[in-house]
Amino acid sequence: MYVCLCRGVTDKAIKQAVENGCDTFREVRDELDVGTCCGMCVPETRQLIDETLAKLASSISTAA
Ligand code: FES
Repeated sequence: MYVCLCRGVTDKAIKQAVENGCDTFREVRDELDVGTCCGMCVPETRQLIDETLAKLASSISTAA
């Protein structure tokens, strides 16, 4: 699903960027260009980043 229509960025690409080490909105934006035009996608992108970080933290804590 496209999150950022201006830059053609999907939710999958955002999740993958977080899984690859981006842990702030700024890092994801620099990596994917998400949110650099109209900005309408910024809240959803931030939410996806938070959700993905929470899932990663949870999977690390259950693996330990
Ligand atoms: Fe992402 Fe416009 S929808 S910058």
